[in-house]
Formats: sequence, structure tokens, C-alpha cells
Amino acid sequence: MRTIAVVNQKGGSGKTTTAVNLAAALGERKRRVLLLDLDPQHSATDWFGLHDGYKGIFSVFAENGNLLDIITPSSVAGVDLVPSSSWLVGVEKFLAGEVGAETILHRKLATLQKSRWDYALIDCPPTLGVLTINALVAAQEVLVPVEAHVMALSGLAQLIETVELVQERLNPELRITGILPCRVDARTRHAQEVVEQLRERFEKLVYRSAIRENVRVAEAPSFSLPITLYDERSYGAADYRALAEEVIEREQAV
Ligand SMILES: Nc1ncnc2c1ncn2[C@@H]1O[C@H](COP(=O)(O)OP(=O)(O)OP(=O)(O)O)[C@@H](O)[C@H]1O
Ligand SMILES: [Mg+2]
Repeated sequence: MRTIAVVNQKGGSGKTTTAVNLAAALGERKRRVLLLDLDPQHSATDWFGLHDGYKGIFSVFAENGNLLDIITPSSVAGVDLVPSSSWLVGVEKFLAGEVGAETILHRKLATLQKSRWDYALIDCPPTLGVLTINALVAAQEVLVPVEAHVMALSGLAQLIETVELVQERLNPELRITGILPCRVDARTRHAQEVVEQLRERFEKLVYRSAIRENVRVAEAPSFSLPITLYDERSYGAADYRALAEEVIEREQAV
């Protein structure tokens, strides 16, 4: 199982959109995906219309619950969900100072039968707190969605530093396997320049694929569908399918 954390501490960079739509596009290619919602805002859970009032992953972090008990099949082929809930709001405080708090998710994932899924995708909250650190400890790969706007680049150095610290102290396997330009508005020169800057600075770390700004992508959650099912001919669907291909290409390398 390849475990990929979708991380950026900047809010609204496209994490949830990428986690959900990449999961669906991988599912379309017959990959089995476990999508974990680690965000107290539970946007990925809501996207699937699966917010049911239960505690979800809170029980795993705060009550020693098992992942297996809360895994829910989604309506999307190949995709299972570990739901979040607003119970998670207080969990950063709750876990502060707890021994081993940063490795909870890693230990819980290890109890699952790894051959049941090809991918675990972890949708992180917009912080570098204990929940995101849990994702970085549990994952082998980090996918960083970056909004194609110059303001969005400023937090990248801090993110890379955090990944390096986790790598050094807790998870030597961890790699940033891709920076993904998101919300690229093809009509503006600015967005193109930001993508060029990213490619210049981070070279091969930037995916060939970029996700274009597409209103159909923004509409999809209201219909509880990933973009590949909501509008299969949209730019958004094409872009997330291309990303899935690129992720699959690297299966040989891991
Ligand atoms: N390619 C796109 N085209 C149009 N709108 C998009 C696209 N990608 C994301 N959005 C919109 O941008 C907003 C932020 O996206 P998203 O929720 O995925 O970001 P996030 O990083 O998960 O945010 P948060 O940090 O709050 O968790 C949403 O309203 C989403 O619909
Ligand atoms: Mg989100």
C-alpha cells in the first residue's frame, strides 16, 4: 500500500479537492483506495455525503478506536473512506504532551491488512499540527497541492522544513513526491508565471500535470460526486485523470 499525505498548511490550496478526485481517478483505473479524512472541517467526508454524526477518526486518536471499525465504503468505485467529524476540533489540544501522539495513525494503519488497498490518501488540515504530523509519520510520500498564485509560495519553505524534520526524527522513508499546481487559470499570465517559477525552483519535484481552474470542480461536492463522475468530460476530470496516470507511473519506483 502506497500511503500519500496531501499536505499544505495554507488553507484553500486544493488539498481536499485533490485527495477526493485523485482517489476517484485512481479508482477508475482499478486501484483500491482508502481515503482518510484528517481534517476537523471534514470536507472530504462531506463531499461523499457521508457525514453521519458519528465521531469518525476522532475515536482513533482519542479513544484508541480501530480504523477497521470506521472504514465506510463510498459510492465511488474502488474508494473507501475513513470519515472525520467536528469531534476532531479539540484533538490537537487533547494530544499535546501525550507520549507517542505523533505516531498514532502510523500504528493504527499498521493493523490494517495492507493488501486490501493499493493506496491510502490522507487529506490533511491546513496546519502543521499533530494531525498533519501523524499523516507525515504514517506516509511514505507527500503530495503538496499549491494554488497557482504568488502568495501561495511563501509557506512552502516551512512545509519542506517540517517534512525534513519528520524525515530525520520519525520517518526516514518520507519523500515529497510531488508538488501539484492547482487552480491554474489559463487566462492569466500570473498563473503561468507561478507555475514556471515552481518548475524552475523545484524542477522534477513538480508534477507534469497541473490542475486547471474549472468551475465544474468547485460544483462537484454539492452533488456528492467526484469530478470524474459529475462531469466526465470537463477539464477538471481530464486533469485529475492525468495526475492519476502520473502517480500510477511511479508504482514501479516505489
Ligand atoms: N481546480 C479547481 N477549479 C475550481 N475551483 C477549485 C479547484 N480546486 C479547488 N477549488 C476550490 O477552491 C476551494 C479550496 O479548495 P479545497 O477545499 O480543495 O482546498 P483545501 O486545501 O482542502 O482547503 P482547506 O485548507 O480549507 O482544507 C474550494 O472552494 C474548491 O471548490
Ligand atoms: Mg481541505
